[in-house]
Amino acid sequence: MTVYQDFFEGGAGEERTLRANVDAFERRRIIPRVLRGTGPRDLRTTLLGTDLSMPLLLAPTAFHLLAHPTGETGAAGAAAAAGIAMVVSMAATQPIEQIADTGATLWFQLYPQPDLDFQDRLLRRVTKAGVKAIVVTVDSPVFGHRTRDLANGFTDLPAGLTCANMDGRDIAMDDTLSWEHIDRLRAATGLPLVLKGILHPADAGLAVTHGADAVIVSNHGGRQLDGAIATLDALPAVLQAVGGRIPVLVDGGIRRGTDILVALALGAAATLVGRVGIRGLAGGPDGVREKIENLRAQLDHALALAGAQRPADLSPDQIS
Ligand code: FNR
Repeated sequence: MTVYQDFFEGGAGEERTLRANVDAFERRRIIPRVLRGTGPRDLRTTLLGTDLSMPLLLAPTAFHLLAHPTGETGAAGAAAAAGIAMVVSMAATQPIEQIADTGATLWFQLYPQPDLDFQDRLLRRVTKAGVKAIVVTVDSPVFGHRTRDLANGFTDLPAGLTCANMDGRDIAMDDTLSWEHIDRLRAATGLPLVLKGILHPADAGLAVTHGADAVIVSNHGGRQLDGAIATLDALPAVLQAVGGRIPVLVDGGIRRGTDILVALALGAAATLVGRVGIRGLAGGPDGVREKIENLRAQLDHALALAGAQRPADLSPDQIS
C-alpha cells in the first residue's frame, strides 16, 4: 500500500470500527417479499429539497487531488452525471467555486470552527457558490488516531496542495465545542443543517430539538473513535429517537447495492459512500461514475428480488 492509499483506506486504532461497519452489513440477511409486481423500479428520492436519482450521496472525503489529478471536480462531475449529490469536504483541495462549476448538486461539510468570523465568511462563500445544505461533522472534537498515517509519517499535504477553502488556515478541531455552537450555526445559515456523526439516540433527539434538518448516523468510517459502534447497529435506536421528525441518513461500510437496500429497509432516508467513491476516483471521473452505476444496478436488481418497486416499499421486517 502506498502512503496515500493507507490514508484513504485506513481507520483509527486497531481498525475495529472500520471492520465492524462492514461486518454489520455482512451479518444482515434480507427476507424477500414475492409476487408484488416490482417493475419498473423507481429509485428516485428528494432529500431536503435535493433531487437524487437514487438514495445515495458521495460522503465528504478529504484531499481528492491525492487520489487523481481531477480532484474534487472529477468526483463532482461524476456525481452530476449520475444525478446524485456530493458532500464536499472542508478539506477539499480545490476551491468550492470550481467544484460547483461542474453543475453538481453540492452539500458542504464543515468542522465547527472556533474562529466564528472565519466560519461565517466560509458559510457565505459556500452559500454563494450554490451549495444546498451544510453538513456539520460533530464526531471530531479531536483528531482520530490514524495508525497507518502515524506509521507512515503522513501528517501534512505534500507541497503544492492545500485545503483550498481555508484561506491558508489549518482546520481546527476544538474539544470545547458544544450544542451552543450548533445553535449559533443554526442561526447563521438559512440552508438546511445536517449533523454528521450521530450514534447515540439521545444525541439524535437533541439534534432535532436544536433545529437540525437531518442527521447522518456515522462514525467517520472508523477513523475517529476506534471501538465505536458499527453504524448499521446504531441506526435503529437513532431512528426510534427521531421518530420520523427529520430524515436519518447513514454511512460507513457500504460496499454494494444490497448494503444500501438493508439500510433503506431499516428506515434510512439515504446512504453515503466514502471509500467506494475514493476508490473510483483512482480512475478519474469515469471511475467514480462506474462505482455509482454499479451500486445503482445492484440496488435495482436487489429491489426486484426483494419485492420492492421503490425503496419506500421496503420495511424493517424484511431484515434479519
Ligand atoms: C473521510 N470522512 C470524512 N468525513 C468528514 O466529515 N470530513 C472529511 O473531511 C472526511 N474525510 C475523509 C477522508 C477519507 C479518506 C475517508 C475514507 C473518510 C468520513 C466520510 O465522510 C464517511 O463518514 C466515511 O467514509 C463512511 O464510511 P465508508 O463509506 O468509507 O465505509
